[in-house]
Amino acid sequence: MRQSRNQTIWRWFDFFPVANRSSIVSLGEGGTPLIHAGRLGEKLGLPNLYLKNDTVLPTGSLKDRSNSVGISVAKELGFSTATVISTGNAAASVAAYSAAAGLKSIVMVPSGTAQSKIIQARAYGATVIVVDGDFDGEVAKLYKSAVQEFGWYDCLSSNPYRDEGKKSYAYEMVDQLDGQIPDWVIHPTAGGTGIYAMWKGYQEFLSLGWIDRAPRLVAAQSEAAAPIVSAFERKLADVEPVIARETVAESIQVGNPVSLGWRALVALRESDGTAVALSDDEILEAQALTGSLAGIFAEPAAATSVAAAKKLRDANVIKSGDVVVCNLTGHGLKQPEAIRLSEKEFASIPPTLEALRDQVKRTER
Ligand SMILES: Cc1ncc(COP(=O)(O)O)c(C=O)c1O
Repeated sequence: MRQSRNQTIWRWFDFFPVANRSSIVSLGEGGTPLIHAGRLGEKLGLPNLYLKNDTVLPTGSLKDRSNSVGISVAKELGFSTATVISTGNAAASVAAYSAAAGLKSIVMVPSGTAQSKIIQARAYGATVIVVDGDFDGEVAKLYKSAVQEFGWYDCLSSNPYRDEGKKSYAYEMVDQLDGQIPDWVIHPTAGGTGIYAMWKGYQEFLSLGWIDRAPRLVAAQSEAAAPIVSAFERKLADVEPVIARETVAESIQVGNPVSLGWRALVALRESDGTAVALSDDEILEAQALTGSLAGIFAEPAAATSVAAAKKLRDANVIKSGDVVVCNLTGHGLKQPEAIRLSEKEFASIPPTLEALRDQVKRTER
């Protein structure tokens, strides 16, 4: 394999559908830490647990892997405006990469999207439109008509260039584990592009003879929006849309994975993987454990991978000696209000040692 000092995804330029290096729009995405999570692994009964920490990507989520490639293509093709409909993370990412590329960005989010995510996209200079309605229904319909009407560059996950960027998960893991292939890779899943793209990345390395097997892939979804889990369990060839309910994992609250959910099903089946739905309690527990035992603050949607690892270990599907990678796909500061603190934790104290002792006792975990 070719070694390079460039640790961004562009180290793998030859694997991406971008013709000229001069078109690359990069904010330093990729090359994120793959951390052996000893204390968290011990708690879950998984001594070989690794966390792929994508919370440190430039805009704080996995979307930067795909938008770096997607917006590079937009630049190459001469577009002037990029757009996306998003539960928040893609909006911020499209906005940031458009800013770097000199493109205008117009992003749509459903009402109810966390304010922190709207603020982030705005900070990168995007025009942010908050639309009444749910992501899969009215907002998606308006988005489709707008793309047709105005001819903007469409950055939805159905944009094939975007998937390509997420293949970098596979490439980086092979490299970071020195060619050792994990037994399982668990990915928080909405539209299923991450699962499909990782599978594609591993297949490419297999066909080059650089690796001799691929990991079993696991899609982790919230119970409130689990069409891929449902289709996988029912052995369907395609995903049937569901009405997504409210969930703390708001970034993956997607009931209708556009038209491409079937590809995730293929990846899960060909890899002999599985799909798991998690309750909000399981997700919040995983978020808390990941923060307090591994030192990584992941947003609830991202923590579904750890929740799934726990669930599959408890059910003995994942064995104790298995090498497991959980992708942590978004930063906890994206949705800080998911962590509920009691009033006493915010209360101030007088500046005395006695008051400090009392407060430590009161709030100690
Ligand atoms: C934090 C986070 N994790 C995971 C995903 C997974 O998306 P996909 O299944 O489309 O790869 C998303 C995107 O919607 C996300 O925002």
